[in-house]
Amino acid sequence: MIPEIKNICCIGAGYVGGPTMSVIAEKCPHIKVNVVDTNKKRIDLWNSKNLNNLPIYEPGLKSIIKKCRGKNLFFTVNTELEIKKADMIFISVNTPTKTKGLGAGQASDLKWVELCARQVAQFGTGHTIVVEKSTLPVKTAEVIKSILENSNTENTNNIKSTFHVLSNPEFLAEGSAINDLKNPDRVLIGGDNNGAIMALNSIYSYWVPKEKILHTNIWSSELAKLTANAFLAQRISSINSIAAICEVTGADISEVSRAIGSDTRIGSKFLDSGPGFGGSCFKKDILNLVYLCKYYDLHEVGRFWESVVELNSWNQNRISNLIIKKLFGTVNGKKIYIMGFAFKANTNDTRESAAIKICKDLLNEGALLYINDPKVIPAQISEVLGMNESNKKEITEKKDLENEGKWHFIKNVVDGFHDADAAVILTEWEQYGKINWEIASKLMRKPSWVFDTRSIISANDLRKYNINFWKIGDGTH
Ligand code: UDX
Ligand code: ADP
Repeated sequence: MIPEIKNICCIGAGYVGGPTMSVIAEKCPHIKVNVVDTNKKRIDLWNSKNLNNLPIYEPGLKSIIKKCRGKNLFFTVNTELEIKKADMIFISVNTPTKTKGLGAGQASDLKWVELCARQVAQFGTGHTIVVEKSTLPVKTAEVIKSILENSNTENTNNIKSTFHVLSNPEFLAEGSAINDLKNPDRVLIGGDNNGAIMALNSIYSYWVPKEKILHTNIWSSELAKLTANAFLAQRISSINSIAAICEVTGADISEVSRAIGSDTRIGSKFLDSGPGFGGSCFKKDILNLVYLCKYYDLHEVGRFWESVVELNSWNQNRISNLIIKKLFGTVNGKKIYIMGFAFKANTNDTRESAAIKICKDLLNEGALLYINDPKVIPAQISEVLGMNESNKKEITEKKDLENEGKWHFIKNVVDGFHDADAAVILTEWEQYGKINWEIASKLMRKPSWVFDTRSIISANDLRKYNINFWKIGDGTH
């Protein structure tokens, strides 16, 4: 029998839970979707009247919220009540890498997932399907199952509540999440109970073609998620390693990418070299894979995947070193304009952004940074850099000769060029490709430098204004 789903509860109103539930609510108007989070501030932002204040920026999200919120999509902090009512519960909480204890630096910290499972065990009534949505290490479903099965909670009629656990990993990429959710390459449902699988299948089948919904066992589903991210990250580390070779040999990475990408066995996507991959998933998922390998004594396999992450850190370092070298070996007291702080365009997420490492390196060398990003707010930058914002005067007057780096947020893109020794493009925001370099060159200090780590501007546009130019993977000049 396929259980009918009328009430969904999603635990975790973040980058995964928020957009995923919004699309389910839009596509299934007959299902009531409740998103809960312990973070009241975040829930208040999801409920804000002004849709520009939603806690996450994602193209296309605002219009769905406008259409569904208050009708069949709700954001609340009342976890207990929503778990009680739910026929299906999605777990979309955060699973950061452990910072201490066994597996620190590699294994995921499952304490939030565990807590969720305990809450579900405590408050669930009747039969509930629990769907694992967060990116989790292999065998997490087993942990959830064991917590649910071993809890002795009984509902008001003294009937023990029952659960089935499914793995339904998320493949959305931030910045294109709504489109990825509406038109997925595939949807993966891992589980061992046919009724539960078909109940989730029936939700996706409202908008996803049948042949794109794949059923697997639970471990294949969990491992497929880690593997997909590891393969994608590996492509980026590979292309970034070749970009460095291009720079010294006179080759051009965009030509190399085009050439290899036209091999249908390789394919053209995910071959853009850049400052290094960021985001909440790639590093964490590979480290989970490494931890798994070590646990099972597959040390060579572990080292292979670990090198993908190592190469990424090397690449981020390479960029900051290169900037320092080009600016005559020192950036102390020099003004550098950082263009873009998000880990990629079209998101306000800064988790693992290459900008963090690069800015910290430059600040440590005593640079004065102007930082612009169209969607990241200054408070977020302060938090991740671990350094308060300085006011503009402190930077423009350069009074402080104590070798201390400082940073200031720039609202209007053009203002950041004022008196800057260098501009560094770190995120591929569309507006950075449309800069009027004639105006910028007049504002910058001479000799001026532009470093383009995302290959979004052309050397010809800059040369005529007497700006020195470095572009990633471009060894042609
Ligand atoms: C990723 C996966 O794509 C998604 O399927 C999974 O569910 C979560 O992790 P996300 O982290 O949102 O999604 O972004 P993604 O588009 O994959 O980009 C990750 C990083 O790689 C970014 O920093 C991006 O700038 C970088 N990147 C991507 C490159 O440097 N070059 C490329 O060609 C593509
Ligand atoms: P992701 O990118 O995986 O969506 P986020 O950090 O953006 O990660 O979102 C996860 C959300 O889960 C956070 O807003 C956090 O407050 C919430 N959360 C974590 N544990 C719980 C819990 N037990 N109950 C409700 N919400 C939780």
